[in-house]
Amino acid sequence: MDLAPFLNKWLHLLSIIFVLGGVFYQRFVAMPILRTGELADTDWARSLARRWGLISAFLWLVILATGFVNFHFVAAHVNSAYSAVLGMKILLALVMFFLAMAISHPVPFLGGLRQQPARVLTILILLGIVVVGISAYLNLSRISGAGLRRAPAAMPSVSAPQALPTAR
Ligand code: HEM
Repeated sequence: MDLAPFLNKWLHLLSIIFVLGGVFYQRFVAMPILRTGELADTDWARSLARRWGLISAFLWLVILATGFVNFHFVAAHVNSAYSAVLGMKILLALVMFFLAMAISHPVPFLGGLRQQPARVLTILILLGIVVVGISAYLNLSRISGAGLRRAPAAMPSVSAPQALPTAR
């Protein structure tokens, strides 16, 4: 097994696990508690959000970079059906990236999304579930061969011309 694709995929998976785990924790643990108690709108809550904003921005850079490197490693072997599904995955991944940045950073034209963080986090989790499913499909389609380019048909072998029988 080649080391570079392995290390790259490992990093891809780890950063996705951290991001989705963080989003899940935010949505179902931190948020309900911060929203209801007197902790909401405190410096403590703001520094939690700022810290997660920095960490998730870094993790997203790793996800996107390793994702495109992943694609570079498989591109020569996959067919157009695989590429079409991968295109859908990239689109959804970019939507996730923008949503993740919009709720944790002051992005001017996406400011409205910061007003409804619970909804955005839920959408992020749902998109994450779909994108992980698409990724598993892509991987299995390569393993089964369905996503691979067909090998060119073997050329008929050209044998050396037979010597003509000589007339006696
Ligand atoms: C632009 C961003 C991304 C690109 C270009 C990308 C590309 C790729 C590629 C080419 C693979 C290899 C698939 C195969 O083995 O045939 C892969 C694996 C994977 N990706 Fe991404 N990815 C991106 C973002 C994401 C995101 C946002 C998630 C999750 C939310 C994700 C989850 C996964 C998983 C779970 C695998 C491993 C699949 C497996 O081996 O079973 N990726 N990615």
